[in-house]
Amino acid sequence: MNTFKLAVLVSGRGSNLQAIIDSIEREELDASISIVISNTRDAMALQRAKEHEIKTIFIDPAKHIDSKDYDKALTDKLKEYSIDLICLAGYMRILGEEVIQTFEKKIINIHPSLLPAFPGLNAQKQAIEHGVKFSGCTVHFVDLGVDSGPIILQTVVPVYDKDDEKSLSKRILEQEHHLYPKAIKMIKESKVNLNGRIVTSNTV
Ligand code: GRF
Repeated sequence: MNTFKLAVLVSGRGSNLQAIIDSIEREELDASISIVISNTRDAMALQRAKEHEIKTIFIDPAKHIDSKDYDKALTDKLKEYSIDLICLAGYMRILGEEVIQTFEKKIINIHPSLLPAFPGLNAQKQAIEHGVKFSGCTVHFVDLGVDSGPIILQTVVPVYDKDDEKSLSKRILEQEHHLYPKAIKMIKESKVNLNGRIVTSNTV
């Protein structure tokens, strides 16, 4: 049987990458990570990948004249590995047209809010400052906007009066680590159908 090949794009801590690795190693997720790509040289995520003997690549933004050029290098690299699904896991660059069009419906992201509320940076801080009573996390397909693509799965998390950005982030992150591998598994098992921006799942 063909392996379902993942590429994981990272920039920092890599706890979601770790959750994916763990889920594969526990044999809950039948997939393999072909490559972990980072735009930051010393991302902790790269270290985590190396500890599990996963191939890593740092694509240096300083070596590319602009985002278009950077994205071309990224697209070429992803093509080389015949990737089935690209998972953004704390990847801090916005993907340009070339990558998105080349890998249409094959790029997903995890975001720490209930989208479409609080897209972009510091989603947990935005939630606290807005005074919402529930927040959560979202796995979605990536389109050309910021955190605007079709929603695949969400988990709701309560926001308590005593919460600050840190405590809320921690509660959300715990759920992210369940949600991301679950979404990948559903896609791998062809249980995710995309119709316009509506995602339905035949998971009964
Ligand atoms: C997570 O909160 C994720 O939702 C967001 O960036 C953070 C990455 O954390 N996109 P980590 O690098 O996976 O630990």
